[in-house]
Amino acid sequence: MVKAVVAGAAGGIGQPLSLLLKASPLVDELALYDVVNTPGVAADLSHISSPAKVTGYLPKEDGLKGALTGADIVVIPAGVPRKPGMTRDDLFKINAGIVQGLIEGVAQHCPKAFVLIISNPVNSTVPIAAEVLKRAGVFDPKRLFGVTTLDVVRAETFVAEITGEKQPSKLNIPVIGGHSGATIVPLFSQAQPSVNIPSDKYDSLVNRVQFGGDEVVKAKDGAGSATLSMAYAGFRYVVNETTLTQHSFAEKVLKAAKGESGITEPSYVYLPGVSGGDSIAKATGVDFFSVPIELGAGGAEKAIDIVGKANEQEKKLLEACYKDLKGNIQKGVDFVQNPP
Ligand code: NAD
Ligand code: LMR
Repeated sequence: MVKAVVAGAAGGIGQPLSLLLKASPLVDELALYDVVNTPGVAADLSHISSPAKVTGYLPKEDGLKGALTGADIVVIPAGVPRKPGMTRDDLFKINAGIVQGLIEGVAQHCPKAFVLIISNPVNSTVPIAAEVLKRAGVFDPKRLFGVTTLDVVRAETFVAEITGEKQPSKLNIPVIGGHSGATIVPLFSQAQPSVNIPSDKYDSLVNRVQFGGDEVVKAKDGAGSATLSMAYAGFRYVVNETTLTQHSFAEKVLKAAKGESGITEPSYVYLPGVSGGDSIAKATGVDFFSVPIELGAGGAEKAIDIVGKANEQEKKLLEACYKDLKGNIQKGVDFVQNPP
């Protein structure tokens, strides 16, 4: 029996992501937690004729405890989104405390659950989560993931617009680093199958992948940031030759936990706690970093080192990434260690 929890379930990402998880055959119980509207969202989803039993929880009557108890996987898109003119770091003030509170709940009620953090700024909220779990003595780095899949989904889409690939999701383009601006580093040189980006299009393509989020924020004009593409990225479709099979990042984590091997997803993890991560941490100078992660029964089984394969152009992008990322990580750690 698998219990999945969405915290922030009534929001722009939370609702479509909950819908996709309700449709997943891997989920037996789906608990929706938010500070508003979860009874309605749960009632709505509960009419869908898939197996998962849906429940909605609010903070009253110890709702967080009710939602989290017995959870195998907790997906967190709780918090405020950007408006035009804001950076993800501007969200820190509000979202840092929200993530801290939710992770304190995880530490208390479901310390063995896989935790997938979507709330921005991911570069800092994941270190916050790690610190909270460490303090509670229950930190397992293999079970904590920052969700950066949207950057990979965007890279596939934008590259296909240039190369004319008809099925963009067949492209496998590693995007490493963090999840904001210059910390997002696409490694087009490592694409599978290989892609040819004309040199006059390279800079604008990199810029579009790094600032794809801003494109959506601007277009939504004050009504928030990416929600549907994020829900898709959380619930990503993998197309193979003959079938269309659906795997969410959450589903992949669950499938791997059930023993399926060979599942790899990019994720922002605490490198020193994941096999193969130490050498990447040494090379990059940062402890939290997104690389392709081999998933297994225990979660993040292996960090795959593709940093060293970057070409000269990509190495320059990586230098800028490390600089910004160090500050973002420290800000998250300080928030828990030396509260403001
Ligand atoms: P939204 O405002 O539509 O939804 C957020 C939800 O969180 C709301 O329903 C709100 O009530 C709820 N919430 C607030 N405080 C809470 C708490 N303490 N406990 C539980 N729920 C709480 O926002 P959204 O568009 O869904 O975005 C959510 C977050 O995801 C933002 O921080 C956004 O920047 C981030 N995001 C991340 C990625 C990524 O790639 N990692 C992509 C898109 C958005
Ligand atoms: C994104 O990449 O779309 C999200 O991180 C939301 C944002 O603020 O850009």
